[in-house]
Amino acid sequence: MWRYRELLPVSPLNAVNLGEGGTPLPRSVQLAADLGFNEVYFKNEGQNPTGSFKDRGMTVAVTRAVEIVAKEVVCASTGNTSASMAAYAARAGLRAAVLIPRGKIAKGKLLQAVVHGARIRQVTGNFDKALIKARTLASKRGLYLVNSLNPYRIEGQKTLAFEVWEQLRKVPDAIILPVGNAGNISAIWKGFSELKRVSATRSTPRMIGVQAAGAAPIADAYAKGDSDIIPWPHPETAATAIRIGAPASWKKALRAVRDSDGAMLTVSDHEILGAQRLLASREGIFAEPASSASVAGLLKASRSGLINRRESIVCVITGHGLKDQGSVGAAR
Ligand code: F0G
Repeated sequence: MWRYRELLPVSPLNAVNLGEGGTPLPRSVQLAADLGFNEVYFKNEGQNPTGSFKDRGMTVAVTRAVEIVAKEVVCASTGNTSASMAAYAARAGLRAAVLIPRGKIAKGKLLQAVVHGARIRQVTGNFDKALIKARTLASKRGLYLVNSLNPYRIEGQKTLAFEVWEQLRKVPDAIILPVGNAGNISAIWKGFSELKRVSATRSTPRMIGVQAAGAAPIADAYAKGDSDIIPWPHPETAATAIRIGAPASWKKALRAVRDSDGAMLTVSDHEILGAQRLLASREGIFAEPASSASVAGLLKASRSGLINRRESIVCVITGHGLKDQGSVGAAR
């Protein structure tokens, strides 16, 4: 993704880099045919170095940490951000501190943070509480916060839009992706908006965000037409990566959805785990539950008529299934 260096806000000379980005965009063979769709693609972010899209943002944020001579980076995480941060921090020679909700992150992700040498603090409570603690640590002790509130993360993650445009040689009609803390939907929308602003493209895709039904404050506000969200104190879903009740970037996410004429949907855990199996058994792609929410969203949006058969659709597969092996048993 450092091919897009002119559009990134750090110097590529210092880049803390593991070969992130440049992920495949296979075209759906079986699912699209089942649905009667012509063009469905899967942007497979599970193929990034640490197995999720977080690496796009982390390479830029940790490069920034090196530029400002930070000694230690910190994040709250449902698992993937901490795995990614730990790897990039290790490479940069920085100390890393992660705050995770106790007992609520997938083992594979925890293992990644451990093996890369991060200091791990388990927080009693959910991600939202861990994020408050991480922000406090950052402001009181001078640690460099790399959650997606950090604009350098967003700048890295926007490169997915550039890649999709180059791979398809056009802007797709719709992008479907899971939404948790809402950084990624904001980042991808920013990428497509920038392409249009510099007249590289004429259109932007409809942004269709998908939340788990048990953790859906943004979808709730969207459905009610509200301009504010009401945080959910007890989010619950098998898709632990998006088990978030007070998404930090909710405002940007609502704006992305409304400005793009998109939508914010909810899917049940049953639909998510069903989509996981479908994607694995019919397309050969093993995605973690949160990532499968985009495919569950595709099925729901096609049933409701939100998207139609002639449209080109990209589902973002945000993370690899091997990270969360426990969830597969849960689907049986
Ligand atoms: N998919 C996966 C696999 C994720 O890990 C996340 C977020 C999302 C989707 C949602 O992205 O937060 O930008 O809306 N994971 C974060 C973490 C919260 O800590 O790893 P978002």
